[in-house]
Amino acid sequence: MTEEIISATNLISLLIEAQGDALRAIKAGGKSPEEFRVQLLGAKSEITRLTKQIGLIPKEDRHKIGPVVTEVKHSIESALSQIEESAISTPSTFVDVTAPGIRPPEGHLHIVTQAIMEVTRIFERIGFTRVRHPEVDWDWYPFESLNMPKNHPARDEWETFFINYPGKPGTNPKKQKIVLTPHTSNGQVREMEKGKLPIRMINIAKCYRRQIDVSHTPMFHQFEGLYIDKDVSIGHLKGVFDYFVKQFFGANRETRLRPFHFQFTEPSFEVDINCGICLGTGLLPDKTPCKLCKAGWLELGGSGMVHPVVLRNGGIDPDTYSGFAFGWGIERTYMMKSGTKLDDIRLLYSNDIRFLEQF
Ligand code: FA5
Repeated sequence: MTEEIISATNLISLLIEAQGDALRAIKAGGKSPEEFRVQLLGAKSEITRLTKQIGLIPKEDRHKIGPVVTEVKHSIESALSQIEESAISTPSTFVDVTAPGIRPPEGHLHIVTQAIMEVTRIFERIGFTRVRHPEVDWDWYPFESLNMPKNHPARDEWETFFINYPGKPGTNPKKQKIVLTPHTSNGQVREMEKGKLPIRMINIAKCYRRQIDVSHTPMFHQFEGLYIDKDVSIGHLKGVFDYFVKQFFGANRETRLRPFHFQFTEPSFEVDINCGICLGTGLLPDKTPCKLCKAGWLELGGSGMVHPVVLRNGGIDPDTYSGFAFGWGIERTYMMKSGTKLDDIRLLYSNDIRFLEQF
């Protein structure tokens, strides 16, 4: 078989046409530079096929073909290199620096912390100062100093997590046993020991008890008020409670006192607040019984006039000074706030972000 002789001019124009096709294909895109390199310059490419035809042109014209082949390959290579360089310098996704930013999720204080801050603010307005007393304390402060000697049955309700600290014989009898405080009343005698009168303290701290159900957690917070001055009466106590509930719960809320017993107050009271749903009537507008309260009232916590024994334990003369004290749960008080539909106290500490985000 005889091979056809082609002219140099003809081969050059075929090479230039193949170059144009190759550059247009690169501009249209759709493949990686490496894929284009194989397709346009590889062994099976049109340009390689044409280059092999040099042998078919007359010998004296062959020198004209070399520079054209070099120029064609060079132009294709540099088009491919440009794509590779721009892929390195341009991010794959376009960033519009003028577009408004995406707001990161914003946290907020835990509702118990919010409640502590609100309670503190309310009492500060009438001259009470927030103080801190130990949450892990000598047995003396939450029990014995409060008129609850060792083995007294009144301690049963509060006896809690003790830390075994074997006191050495002859050491201070007040420093024999350590307890996780079951109530903030340990702050009463500690505050008196500071030796400054009058006292208007609000002690907010963690408390610990062996209890867990819908209205109890093993760790909770109490706020303990203590007011000691000359001529303090039950009238002052009632006035402070009514002020607090109107500020915290709303203008239409009020308190009532029920006789009770605590070893460290005399007389002692349980403080109730009128129910926010039925406003103390015990009945809903359709005359059915209110489901939230017991006959119109809800229990807030304990209170009373400071017992003379406690005043003496704090170095204060009960014949000259008198005072009142109260200790209420932060969580329970917050749960009673109008509009807060919390039916299980444990939710506050379950760390479920879907619950916490609502407040
Ligand atoms: C006392 O703890 C007394 N120290 C209060 C007191 C202070 C009386 C000063 C007189 C003078 P009580 O055990 O009732 O009292 O607790 C007070 C409040 O703490 C309760 O009404 C409740 O709101 C809260 N509380 C008690 N135990 C728990 C618990 N396990 N979980 C959540 N809240 C609790």
